[in-house]
Amino acid sequence: MSDCALAVHDLSVRYGAAATALDGLTLEVPRGEIVALLGPNGAGKSTLMRAVSGLLPVHGGSLTSGRVEVLGTDVTRLRPSGRVRVGLAQALEGRQVFPELTVAENLAAGGYVRRYRKAEAREVRERVLHHFPRLQDLMDRQAGYLSGGEQQMLAIGRAMMSQPSVLLLDEPSLGLAPKIVETVRDVILDINREGTSILLVEQNAAMALSIAQHGYILEGGRVVREGSAAELRADDDIVSLYLGVAPVEGAGQHG
Ligand SMILES: Nc1ncnc2c1ncn2[C@@H]1O[C@H](COP(=O)(O)OP(=O)(O)O)[C@@H](O)[C@H]1O
Ligand SMILES: [Mg+2]
Repeated sequence: MSDCALAVHDLSVRYGAAATALDGLTLEVPRGEIVALLGPNGAGKSTLMRAVSGLLPVHGGSLTSGRVEVLGTDVTRLRPSGRVRVGLAQALEGRQVFPELTVAENLAAGGYVRRYRKAEAREVRERVLHHFPRLQDLMDRQAGYLSGGEQQMLAIGRAMMSQPSVLLLDEPSLGLAPKIVETVRDVILDINREGTSILLVEQNAAMALSIAQHGYILEGGRVVREGSAAELRADDDIVSLYLGVAPVEGAGQHG
């Protein structure tokens, strides 16, 4: 398990007294890979992301079993900030940037846990911005006024400010126009090529399986199928279930 960037073992999650949201889920992200996590609404994808990042309690959820390892370190009992120090970062569902803060301040917040010195922070920021040339022109803008695509870039850029080994992305293409989805896809690929392992949650299965090496399909809190991305792309059932649907809902609503 230790040559995995991320390993999740037998994870079960509940929200209050409600039914189990994750039911004994096991998955792995090998070092250097992109792994896609697909599945219908309500399958438990975001719940898995919260369990991995340590944010479950914020949402009223709790682990009833299981273990999360990042780079071979058991982080199950660590708080979110501790997990960031081990090498984990995430851009959550709904691109939760700080709307009142500027782009520059949002990026700085992403590096906070690392306690960079000034020069170091600048250096890391330069490296991150290299992936997001568009953000360079928007440094003093309030994040809440950016377009949907720009906010998504900022959410990913902010996560990259902690120089993670493992990046969690929860539906980065949601609500974006097809051209912007392409840009997001290219950025994810670039970041991965520089060595960051990625767990990519997507409803846009076509996009996710076009860049992932491996995929898992989640339904009702369980893995119902896994395989290489090529295998999943070639599977008729999966194509009709997940690739046949219009891949970009709400395209054109946001820029
Ligand atoms: N904060 C919450 N409180 C109670 N139930 C929740 C909460 N978040 C998600 N759920 C439930 O857990 C299940 C999985 O949800 P979620 O992880 O958001 O799925 P997905 O991201 O795959 O759409 C759903 O039944 C959903 O209603
Ligand atoms: Mg979700």
